[in-house]
Amino acid sequence: MLVLGIETSCDETAASLCEVDVTDPWRVEALSSVVASQIEEHSAYGGVVPEIAARAHVEAIAPAVAQALEVTERTPALVAVTAGPGLAGSLIVGMAAAKALAWAWSVPLVAVNHVEAHAYAPLLEGTLPAHPFMALVVSGGHTLLAEVRGPDEMVLIGQTLDDALGEAYDKVAKFLGLPYPGGPVIDKLSKGADAAAIRFPRAMMGSGDFNFSLSGLKTAVIRHVDKVNSEGGELPPVADIVASFQAAALEPVVRKTVAAAEEWGLTDVVAGGGVACNSELRERLARACDKAGLRLVLSQPGLCTDNGAMVAALGAIRHAAGHRSGLDADVHPNLRFGSPMPGDRF
Ligand code: KG4
Ligand code: ZN
Repeated sequence: MLVLGIETSCDETAASLCEVDVTDPWRVEALSSVVASQIEEHSAYGGVVPEIAARAHVEAIAPAVAQALEVTERTPALVAVTAGPGLAGSLIVGMAAAKALAWAWSVPLVAVNHVEAHAYAPLLEGTLPAHPFMALVVSGGHTLLAEVRGPDEMVLIGQTLDDALGEAYDKVAKFLGLPYPGGPVIDKLSKGADAAAIRFPRAMMGSGDFNFSLSGLKTAVIRHVDKVNSEGGELPPVADIVASFQAAALEPVVRKTVAAAEEWGLTDVVAGGGVACNSELRERLARACDKAGLRLVLSQPGLCTDNGAMVAALGAIRHAAGHRSGLDADVHPNLRFGSPMPGDRF
C-alpha cells in the first residue's frame, strides 16, 4: 500500500511516500523522504519560535508534499499525519494539508502520535522486532521508556521529570555560546575530547525507577562554569566541558534502558528521536545491550530526527488495526504517549 506521511509538529516540514506491506512481518520502504528544516529561521533565537514555525510550515508544506509525490505516478491509498503532541499552529498546517489530500483522493486519513512514531521509526530499517519491545524515545521535547506491545498498547515505564534530553543538549550549548541546535554540535565536539575533565552528577541513577531528570545537570554545568570564571580559574577546553556533560547525561539513559528491558523481560530494544542520532549514545547503547544479551535496533540518523516516513509507517500500522480519522479531526498539542487518539473511528 502506498502511504503519504506528513509531519509538521515542530520545526521541520516533512513529507514522505512509503510503500508499506502490513502483513506479518511488516515491511516499509521509504520511496521519498523530504524534510524542509527551519533551523536557520530559529537559530537567531536559540530555540523554536512558534509563530515563525507555523508561518514557515505554511510556505514549505505544498512544495514538500509535491516533491515527496514526484517519485511515482500512483496515488497514495492512505494519508497519515501527526496530530500531536507539538505546537498547535504548526500541527494545524500539516493536518489541513493531510485532510485536503485525503478528501481530494477519496482515501482514508489516519492521525498519528508523533512520539509513538519515533518509537516505530526502526521499522523503516526493515528490522522492527516482534512485539513487545522496549522503546527509548529521546528527542528535543520527550525522553521516555515504554513497553510497546502493539500500536494500541504502549505502556509508559519511565520519563523525564523535567527537561528532555535534547533540550538539555540545546540549553547547555546555548549557555556555552554554541550554535542551535546544540545536540549535533556537542556530539561532534565531544569526539576525542576528555569526558572525565569534569565530574558532573549522574541524576536519578539510584532512584529505583525508570525516570530521568536533566535540569539539575544543566544547572550544574552553568554553576561550574560561572564559579570557575568568577574565581578567575581556568576552564578546560569547551570540547571537554561538553564531553563531560554528555557522559553525565547519557549514563543514566543507557543504564536505565537496559535495566528496564531486563526487569520487564524484554529481549528487544529500539531507540528513536533526534538524540538517537548521537554517536556516543549509539555506541554506549550498542555495547550495553550486547553485554546484556539484548537485541538493539537503531534507525539510521536521518530517520531518528523528525520525518514523514515514521508517520507513514505508524499510520499504516494503525490503519491495519482499524483506525480512521474523520475530516473533522483535530490537532492535540498535549497528546500523551500511549493515550487513545481523540475522535478516532473504527
Ligand atoms: O526528534 P527531533 O528531531 O525533534 C523533536 O521531536 O524534538 O529531535 C530534535 C532534538 C534536538 O534537541 C537536537 O539537539 C537533538 O534532537 N539532536 C541531537 C543530535 N542530533 C539531534 N542530540 C545529540 N546528538 C545528536 N547528534
Ligand atoms: Zn520528534
